Amino acid sequence: MTFCEYRPGLEGIPATQSSISFVDGQRGILEYRGIGIEELALNSTFLETSYLLIWGNLPSKEELAEFEHEIRYHRRLKYRIRDMMKCFPESGHPMDALQACAAALGLFYSRRALDDPDYIRNAVVRLLAKIPTMVAAFQLMRKGNDPVQPRDDLDYAANFLYMLNEQEPDPLAAHIFDICLTLHAEHTINASTFSAMVTASTLTDPYGVIASAVGTLAGPLHGGANEEVIFMLEEIGSIDKVEAYLDKCMQNKSKIMGFGHRVYKVKDPRATILQELAEQLFEKFGGDEYYEIAVALEKAVEERLGQKGIYPNVDFYSGLVYRKLGIPTDLFTPVFAIARTAGWLAHWKEQLAENRIFRPTQIYTGSRNAPYVPIEKRQSAQDQELLGLVSG
Ligand code: SDX
Repeated sequence: MTFCEYRPGLEGIPATQSSISFVDGQRGILEYRGIGIEELALNSTFLETSYLLIWGNLPSKEELAEFEHEIRYHRRLKYRIRDMMKCFPESGHPMDALQACAAALGLFYSRRALDDPDYIRNAVVRLLAKIPTMVAAFQLMRKGNDPVQPRDDLDYAANFLYMLNEQEPDPLAAHIFDICLTLHAEHTINASTFSAMVTASTLTDPYGVIASAVGTLAGPLHGGANEEVIFMLEEIGSIDKVEAYLDKCMQNKSKIMGFGHRVYKVKDPRATILQELAEQLFEKFGGDEYYEIAVALEKAVEERLGQKGIYPNVDFYSGLVYRKLGIPTDLFTPVFAIARTAGWLAHWKEQLAENRIFRPTQIYTGSRNAPYVPIEKRQSAQDQELLGLVSG
């Protein structure tokens, strides 16, 4: 079979078959294992949703209880991981810290038994359990404090907020944070998931798979956009400056952070839910100065770019929710990673079930049969350019 059309960014090219999630980008539909995201946000929890994504079915009461119990048991970090983290510079980005810690887990759990269901289960549990602890620990350590130990009496979301803020969260705040995790858990074959799948296809260990996905999520065109949105709202500063900001973006052809999506040509259904969650939080805990700017920006972008299908994506309103929950701006993307670990693990498991190493082709555009020029006869690239021998 030959397929010669080159599409930058592999737009529209199926790279796998998957039964994990479904997106209809024209109608704004997202389903995990066939269940609508709105229904999961309303009725499920992040851990139940993770089970659904990874094992393909909603767990029974007993199965869920056992899964939650295992995760509670594995939340603690080995002291050597904590010691390693102490050596990280405080000024380093928490996504880099998380990537290093995820990869380091592979040093401790080095047995690689990809055909053993117990190994798969343990890896799933360890990663879901330890990643939030790593994110919270780095936050405290960079402030010069000892990390807070996880609390077994708190559920997944509440425990993370407790470890981060050193106090038990308000129940509504914890509930809303859990919904945020569910919303971010999975999204078909996005860049970081693709990265996880490519890494998985080499049959490396799951810690390397998750580390490579974390590295991919970090960029501002992907998960890193949630923190960029806050910087953008900061820069805009007030509602009356929204139009001028957009004029500048259009003039410079720069992207408006938190807008646009390869698949969605309407408002991302997760952005709609996140906006509602932000409003619930503002009602209980007071508003956010940036919210009005965000709403005005959404309206102005829709007027200018709606016909091109540019609408808010998942990263647009999430930061406003996280700010209200007391999460520092540079932890927004690590929080995305905590949630997306579920989806990455589901794709890791699916990839292993029917694995073939990813090895696409390329369209070569370089020269052929070029002579090897001895070093003493070579000219610098600048000289060659001046002589018109190479194009700049
Ligand atoms: C996530 O894939 C996933 O599922 C990802 C994700 C997940 O859950 O995993 O949903 C999470 O990554 C959300 C996206 C976060 N990123 C941003 O918010 C950064 C800003 N957005 C864009 O850079 C962009 O929209 C992307 C990266 C999200 C999508 O890029 P594409 O599909 O390659 O689109 P493109 O850059 O080629 O743009 C197509 C057109 C261009 O106009 P034309 O040249 O055709 O005239 O749309 C315009 C773009 O200029 N456009 C934008 C825009 N996004 C697209 N114009 C202004 N602002 C934007 N944000």
